[in-house]
Amino acid sequence: MRTLFVAVVAFGVVTAYGITARAQQGGAALTGDAAAGKVHYTFGNTSCSNCHGVNGEGAFAPALAGRPEITYDRFRNYVRDPKGRMPGYPDTELTDQEIADMVVYFQSLPKAEKPAAWRTPLPENPVPPQRLAIATIGCGQCHGATMSTPRHGMAEVNGDFEWFKRMVYQHTTTQREQMAMLDPALPRVTPGFGGPQTRTPPRVRMGNYSPQRLPEARLKEIYDWMVDLGALPVLTARLAPAPASDGGQTYNLNVYNSAVRGKGVNTEDVTVAVEVPADVKVVSAAGTGYAGTTMAADGKTIATWRLPKMDAAQQEALSITLSGAAPGLRGTIRWGKPAVKADGQVNFQLPGARGGRGAA
Ligand code: HEC
Ligand code: HEC
Repeated sequence: MRTLFVAVVAFGVVTAYGITARAQQGGAALTGDAAAGKVHYTFGNTSCSNCHGVNGEGAFAPALAGRPEITYDRFRNYVRDPKGRMPGYPDTELTDQEIADMVVYFQSLPKAEKPAAWRTPLPENPVPPQRLAIATIGCGQCHGATMSTPRHGMAEVNGDFEWFKRMVYQHTTTQREQMAMLDPALPRVTPGFGGPQTRTPPRVRMGNYSPQRLPEARLKEIYDWMVDLGALPVLTARLAPAPASDGGQTYNLNVYNSAVRGKGVNTEDVTVAVEVPADVKVVSAAGTGYAGTTMAADGKTIATWRLPKMDAAQQEALSITLSGAAPGLRGTIRWGKPAVKADGQVNFQLPGARGGRGAA
């Protein structure tokens, strides 16, 4: 019933609000589909909802739902060439058809009673560039309070301010160039083509900012703050069970620095720690720098490896054998150099374990 209702309303909107009218001028027939619009907006590899709210009810950005005055033309003009704080999206990331679908979807929704909370609230006592990034420009609505993805990207290629400007002002091409430099054999730490892709070709989620509306001087303030927090090494680990044997259960622990070889940030003094649950014992462990176990304050046993360095594109194969299976096995990576002021710990866990890694 609901689907049918939406479809009927949607059809009414198409004729009433000018999608077909425009199509006559432009020659190509564009008929929006509300269900498809919902998918593009909500799951379709766009991040519009980070600012406009999960259901278009508004948050950092104004509501889009239930606002008939936002016609296809107005919507499309804004997305292609925004006049305010929003990045612009070329049709490589969002097609005219997808825009038509979104317009019909939003027309099918009731007007929101009130906007949702910001996805990234402003922390107490923000430093000025943090306020700029979260509350004034809005980068932080997607990138969180400490800009972790941009700082990861910075470490991938040792990016300087020239790199940063290109990444922000010509994001959709520069991001693709950087992705092409990454070794596909190394696990991706940055979101890349934003999570599971439902669209072909894959899209990037961040649009292009205009230097007229986001002047270089503002961007430099954000960049300097990110440098002060520290480029974030792209260290990551994959934990996986080996086939069980009589001697216990072995877990393979592969540790990676996924930065671009010869270009990205090298790290030193890397500590990999695995929390061993109370009901199993460590039988043996292997790999560079195994330093034995210690007892944590809460009684948990911690097995530790100290790796003198993890250079860009370096991989290390570690392993630990426990007296039995440990389905919740998890651990952390920390590093001494380069020092960072935020996000200085990487959490990893067995796939399927509950809790753990936050959405950095
Ligand atoms: C960084 C946050 C942010 C993101 C991401 C974002 N927007 Fe916006 N959007 C805004 C803001 C803020 C406004 C209000 C005007 C301004 O300051 O740009 C706006 C305005 C708009 C408008 C104009 C509404 C009107 O009244 O005419 C449309 C349409 C729109 N956004 C669609 C989208 C779509 C579609 C996406 C994803 C492809 C998107 N936005 C992503 C922040 C964002
Ligand atoms: C709509 C959400 C969104 C907004 C708003 C946004 N970004 Fe991004 N940004 C992303 C995503 C997602 C990526 C990863 C690539 C992609 O899909 O675009 C990214 C990538 C980046 C990168 C490159 C990271 C790498 O892997 O190399 C930089 C730098 C960056 N953003 C900086 C900024 C700055 C500065 C702002 C504000 C001026 C901003 N972003 C606003 C979502 C956003």
